[in-house]
This record gives sequence, C-alpha cells and structure tokens, in this order.
Amino acid sequence: MVKEMRIDLNPSSLHKRHHVFVKFAVSFLLLGLAFRLFVSDSIRFSSSVVETPPLVDTNSITESPPLSSSSSSSSSLPAQAPSSGDLLANESQAFPNEISPNSMYAVAAECDIFTGDWVPDPSAPAYTNASCHEIEGHQNCMRNGRPDSGYLYWRWNPRDCELPRFDPGKFLDSMRNKSWAFIGDSISRNHVQSLLCILSQVEQAVEVYHDEEYRSKRWHFPSHNFTLSVVWTPFLLKAYIFEDINGVSSSEIQLHLDKLDETWTEQFKNFDYAVIAGGKWFLKTAIYHENDTVTGCHYCPGKNFTELGFDYAYRRALKTVLNFLTNSGHKAFIFLRTTTPDHFENGEWFSGGTCNRTAPFKDGEVDMKDVDIVMRDIELEEYEKAAPVGAESGVILKLLYTTRLSLLRPDGHPGPYRQYQPFTKDKNTQVQNDCLHWCLPGPIDSWNDLLMEMINRGIHQ
Ligand SMILES: *[C@@H]1O[C@H](CO)[C@@H](O)[C@H](O)[C@H]1NC(C)=O
Ligand SMILES: *[C@@H]1O[C@H](CO)[C@@H](O)[C@H](O)[C@H]1NC(C)=O
Ligand SMILES: *[C@@H]1O[C@H](CO)[C@@H](O)[C@H](O)[C@H]1NC(C)=O
Ligand SMILES: *[C@@H]1O[C@H](CO)[C@@H](O)[C@H](O)[C@H]1NC(C)=O
Ligand SMILES: *[C@@H]1O[C@H](CO)[C@@H](O)[C@H](O)[C@H]1NC(C)=O
Ligand SMILES: *[C@@H]1O[C@H](CO)[C@@H](O)[C@H](O)[C@H]1NC(C)=O
Ligand SMILES: *[C@@H]1O[C@H](CO)[C@@H](O)[C@H](O)[C@H]1NC(C)=O
Repeated sequence: MVKEMRIDLNPSSLHKRHHVFVKFAVSFLLLGLAFRLFVSDSIRFSSSVVETPPLVDTNSITESPPLSSSSSSSSSLPAQAPSSGDLLANESQAFPNEISPNSMYAVAAECDIFTGDWVPDPSAPAYTNASCHEIEGHQNCMRNGRPDSGYLYWRWNPRDCELPRFDPGKFLDSMRNKSWAFIGDSISRNHVQSLLCILSQVEQAVEVYHDEEYRSKRWHFPSHNFTLSVVWTPFLLKAYIFEDINGVSSSEIQLHLDKLDETWTEQFKNFDYAVIAGGKWFLKTAIYHENDTVTGCHYCPGKNFTELGFDYAYRRALKTVLNFLTNSGHKAFIFLRTTTPDHFENGEWFSGGTCNRTAPFKDGEVDMKDVDIVMRDIELEEYEKAAPVGAESGVILKLLYTTRLSLLRPDGHPGPYRQYQPFTKDKNTQVQNDCLHWCLPGPIDSWNDLLMEMINRGIHQ
C-alpha cells in the first residue's frame, strides 16, 4: 500500500507541474483572501453580533503585480488566474486526485475512513446556535440567517465501514486529566469550536485564558479535568506579520523557515494530543529567511530576491515542524491535518465568488484546485517521511486527511452569512462571501468524528 502511495506522488513530476501556479497565479488568487478572511474574522468575537469591517481590501488587490509579467518564466501551464467556474473545469485533470493516505498507517484490517461519500442523515446536528455559545459570529450561519438547512443533514460514510458519531461522554471520560491543543490558523479555530460545541452536550467549558486578540484560547472542563487549547500560529514558524486588525499589510511578512513559533513550541510539552495544520497563509507575499539570512521570497517583485514559491516554503516549514515534533522528546499523540479546500465559484474571493450550492458533490463531480493539490501532496510526502521517525521515539503521528471529504462539501460554508442577516436591509446588497471557513454546525463536525475514531483505534491497537 505504501508503494502505491509513492507512485501516486512522484515528487519530481509534481514539482515541475506546480511551478507556475506556485509562483504566480496562486498568490494572486489568495493573497487578499488571506488578508481578509483569516484576519478580520479573528479579532473580537463573542456571542454578540460583531461588526464586520469592510471586506474588499482594494489595497491588497492593486498591490499585487500584474499576472502577465510572470509569463516569461512560465511553461505551457496557464499563468492566468483560472476564470470563473474553475472549480468544475478540467484544469487539474492531469494531476493525481485519488490518494488514499490512510493506507500509510492503517493496519490492513481497518477500513480507510477518509474514502467514502456523504450520505443523507435525518438526525439533528449535535448542537445548534442556541445550545452552543462558542460559535464565532462569522461562522454562526444559523443565527446569521442562512435560509437553507439541508447542509446539516449529511453524514460522512466511509466506503468500507461505519464512522460512529462523536460520543462526547466517552471522549471526556477517556480524556480525564488530559490536554488537547489545536495549533494553526483560523481553520484550526473553526475546528476547535466544533469540538467545544460537541462537548458542550456533556459539559460546558470554562474559558481560562485568551490572548489579547482572542485568537489563542484555553478552556477547562472542570468535572473531567480536561484542558483544550487553540493556539493561533498561522505559519507555525517564527514570523513577523505587519497587518493591522483589518488585515491590511504595511510590509511583507518576514518568515523564518528554519525557526518555529515559540507561541506553540513553548507549550507543546503540556499537550497530550495536538492537531496541527499549516495552510493558506503560505500563499501570501513573504520574504523567506533561513539561518537569519534572506534566501528568497514569494511574490516580491522589485525586491531582487529569488522567487522560491510557496511550495518551497511550505515544504521547508513542514520539515521544520515535523522534525521538532518527532525529536522533542515529548511523547504526544499528534494529528497532522491536511489542507482545507475553498469553494469559491463564479469568481474568487475578491471578484464576487460565491458558494451557494445546497448539497454535497458526489465523488468525481469536482476537481481539487491546483493550490490544494500542491499543499496536500507536500503534506502527504512530509508526513510519510516523518511518521516512522516519530514512531521510533514514541511519538504517534497520524494524518488527519480531511481534504478530500471537505472538497465534497461546497454547501458547508457561510457564504454571505458570515455576516449577521446580510440581506435584511437590502435584498440585492453585495456582500463578501466566505467560502473557506465552515458553518457551525456543519461539515467540519465530521472532522471530530474522524478524530474520535482514530483515537479509538489508537487506544485499541
Ligand atoms: C472534462 O474532461 C472530460 C474528459 O477529459 C470531458 O469529457 C469534459 O467535457 C471536460 N469538461 C469540461 C468542462 O471541460
Ligand atoms: C438561533 O438562530 C435562530 C434562527 O435560525 C434565531 O431565531 C435564534 O434567535 C438564534 N438563537 C441564538 C441564541 O443565537
Ligand atoms: C488535572 O490534570 C492534571 C494533569 O493534566 C493533573 O496534574 C492534576 O493533578 C489534575 N487535577 C485533578 C484535580 O485531578
Ligand atoms: C487524575 O488526576 C487525579 C489527581 O492527580 C488522580 O487522582 C486521578 O486518578 C487521575 N485520573 C485519571 C483517570 O488518570
Ligand atoms: C548559519 O550561519 C552561521 C554563521 O552565521 C554559519 O556558521 C553556519 O554554517 C550557517 N549554517 C548554515 C546551514 O548555513
Ligand atoms: C540583484 O542581485 C544580484 C545578485 O545578488 C546582483 O548581482 C544585482 O546587481 C542585483 N540587481 C539589482 C538591480 O540590485
Ligand atoms: C448562485 O450564484 C450564482 C451567481 O454566482 C447565480 O447565478 C445562481 O442563480 C445562484 N444559485 C442560487 C440557487 O441561488
């Protein structure tokens, strides 16, 4: 099984194919998305209605160099941003799409829980906007007035076995005196809020810490002595980020590819379990440092630095992270969560892209975007190298391969309902859509079903 994996992921061909996207189109597409969605939603949230700052950040768009200037170094691949409807177009036809990474660690008798379909499920979601108080305003689709509710009635159904629903009582009992952390960007926060909401059926968490900007938090479940943290570290690396609270950048990010962000590494020994993920922040313009020297950049025209591409940085980052995890001497149970796809259609985040589908895709109905393929493949390759190293020193490293099943859920995003009742004043008002984060409740709850199943397997193995 591992052999098949290697064939699927021939790294040299992968590299060539990705060249153009990596360097140019991708950064253009997602530069501003990251500015806005990752930052503006991360400021103050609570159960009250949050004012949303204006979403179209023209500065970050116009600062992007024109795409055409990049075509000189490109091969036959398009250097243009994919046009409307790219989600369903055949742009990524030539890329490997069907990978079953679970085969890398699952024992033969176990089914691959990451391959399957979404099937209708009439049972109510585990929580609602009324029963859970931890839902961030921008992802509280029910409260914000999303009119359809069909997206709530699906269950992830692995092809060869049943995936039980997360059992919060059993989870909390098995996690007595234990500590969990979700480490990453705002998608990790989205994920931890799903878990908090699921657990709130059994016990309400008590918030015991938050940082100044409410991006990192810690909760305690007193009757189970269970501790849950979310640590905001969008690159996982040492990074200097010059953005104001609206996500407007005054200077390039300075990113140290060989140094970790101490925000999480200093706490790491406190965590028995960690769900760690990188992601879309790597698509931003950044100056790359290694050994305290600038070695290049991503998307920095006029700077006379070597364009290294975000794929270079992402791989280097994951190597640094995984090397730390497998050599820290702390025997934790670690999940490396794979990249989460967005579902902007008929445009991108800044050009009126929407995600108004109301039902999942069937397998084969959608192709993964190139940027997600690049990230996912880097994750799988680096995971495959690191897992055996971790195993030697008692670190359990597992891949939480959510990319594929999430790709099939274009219906699970807030879309315009990232804002409270966006259309009450004016039916035709233009609002920014969020087709990247997930509604709560929503498909991201299934990520926790997967975690629970993997823990059960881990314990019983
Ligand atoms: C996608 O590719 C398939 C087979 O290669 C072709 O039949 C189909 O028409 C293509 N679809 C689009 C939208 O180009
Ligand atoms: C939950 O959402 C519904 C609309 O679906 C709304 O009527 C209700 O007030 C909301 N409750 C809370 C506590 O947000
Ligand atoms: C709670 O768990 C921690 C370990 O995470 C332990 O040190 C502490 O003694 C526990 N407290 C109680 C009251 O059980
Ligand atoms: C939790 O910690 C407390 C205090 O250290 C201890 O008495 C108890 O046995 C522990 N429970 C478990 C399940 O480890
Ligand atoms: C890093 O820099 C130091 C001195 O600045 C040098 O001694 C060392 O060899 C460098 N390491 C690498 C890997 O370049
Ligand atoms: C760009 O960098 C190269 C090598 O570091 C140097 O030779 C060249 O003069 C620089 N060009 C400009 C315009 O600064
Ligand atoms: C979804 O949005 C597109 C435009 O982006 C629009 O043409 C279409 O009618 C919308 N579908 C629904 C069901 O609202």
